[in-house]
Amino acid sequence: MTSDGSASDELNRIGGLGFVLYRSTARPGLETEDMRAILKAARSRNQALGLTGCLHHEDGLFFQWLEGPGDGLARVMASLTHDRRHDDIRVLDQGPLDRRRFLDWHMRFSDRDHASLMDWFARSDTATVHPGDYAGAVVSFLMSLAR
Ligand SMILES: Cc1cc2nc3c(=O)[nH]c(=O)nc-3n(C[C@H](O)[C@H](O)[C@H](O)COP(=O)(O)O)c2cc1C
Repeated sequence: MTSDGSASDELNRIGGLGFVLYRSTARPGLETEDMRAILKAARSRNQALGLTGCLHHEDGLFFQWLEGPGDGLARVMASLTHDRRHDDIRVLDQGPLDRRRFLDWHMRFSDRDHASLMDWFARSDTATVHPGDYAGAVVSFLMSLAR
């Protein structure tokens, strides 16, 4: 987990491009205004840090893919762990990355009205996703939003 600092240390050690994929539980009662504020802050800070990515919100959960320089990723992950608009952050995967997937997005946003991760899961046993590979299924879903 990120709270003990080890995930951030690992990100800091990434020399070039890296990524983090995490899920978290949204604070109950988050409203459209709160989402707007999150995205506004995220986009301006990500631009300053050279980060791009995608945030999906569905059924009280957040799924976020962040990509960019390792030190920027570590800084944002440190902020995210203290943000009370969500909790129970679980890093599903992280590591080096060959190329950006969300080149044009300082933070792409989607929610259930746009695309459903749960529907994607329901279909994924017939798709290219390895059964039981939860992180892999989330990545495939988020990558489908980049197109
Ligand atoms: C679900 C969620 C996603 C967020 N995504 C980002 C992000 O991509 N980049 C970012 O800088 N802040 C993001 N934030 C906001 C940070 O948690 C934090 O409030 C902001 O970066 C300011 O950090 P600071 O208070 O440490 O200066 C997100 C917050 C939430 C709740």
